[in-house]
Amino acid sequence: MMKEKNEIMDVAAEEFPALFDHIPREQQAKILGTVQSFVTLLMEYRCAIREMETKLNVLNEEFSLLHERNPIESIKSRVKDPASIVEKMYRRGHALTVDNIEAKLHDVAGVRVICSFVEDIYYLADMLSAQDDLEVLKVKDYIKNPKKNGYRSLHLIIQIPIFLSNQKKYMQVEVQFRTIAMDFWASVDHKLKYKKNVKNSELIVEELRKCAETISSVDTRMQEIRNMIEEGELDD
Ligand code: GTP
Ligand code: MG
Repeated sequence: MMKEKNEIMDVAAEEFPALFDHIPREQQAKILGTVQSFVTLLMEYRCAIREMETKLNVLNEEFSLLHERNPIESIKSRVKDPASIVEKMYRRGHALTVDNIEAKLHDVAGVRVICSFVEDIYYLADMLSAQDDLEVLKVKDYIKNPKKNGYRSLHLIIQIPIFLSNQKKYMQVEVQFRTIAMDFWASVDHKLKYKKNVKNSELIVEELRKCAETISSVDTRMQEIRNMIEEGELDD
């Protein structure tokens, strides 16, 4: 084991001589150990995302066989990038250690599920929550209780096991369920948040909030249309 570590250090010292020249040997080992743990943690989050995506794809496939349509339009997943991890740990006042990242952040692994209809969101969330190998740690229902700015989405923090060569490890994944319309709104909102020097910001905030209302009523009407179509199919 020790030998392996030294080999990695030798490679690193060779690859980054300028960096390593100035760091005492004992500290080099510590830095590399931390880097390795961080890389491993990110790999574990990627695996947790794969497990979660598989579960969602299974539900999607079964549903489409039974009902001849897909409840899921698309899935977008990401592991939070290192700079955002560091920024959030700093903003929340947490000491920056690898263990602490896992303990304090619940959204390092993120899975966004885009559905056509609001009812599909609750169907999928309920089916997922009922599975006995995972645990729902937290639910934030911003569809029933939208944020003041108009943001809508259903968030679940889910703890899911991954199976590695020598252990079963529980990982947290943030799953966000949105309709296509909610996702459209959130992506415009997100873009504006990161745009510097936006003028008329009060007006923009108010316009966005109004759009969120419109979008919500469109989602409700689309759901009603779909229900009417499905009832019509039953009558045939
Ligand atoms: P974060 O520090 O942003 O993670 O907030 P939080 O831990 O209080 O959780 P919350 O459930 O409020 O938000 C988690 C995630 O939902 C964010 O990282 C965004 O992806 C999304 N989100 C929340 N609020 C908004 C919003 O107002 N606009 C947009 N576009 N996305 C949002
Ligand atoms: Mg978050």
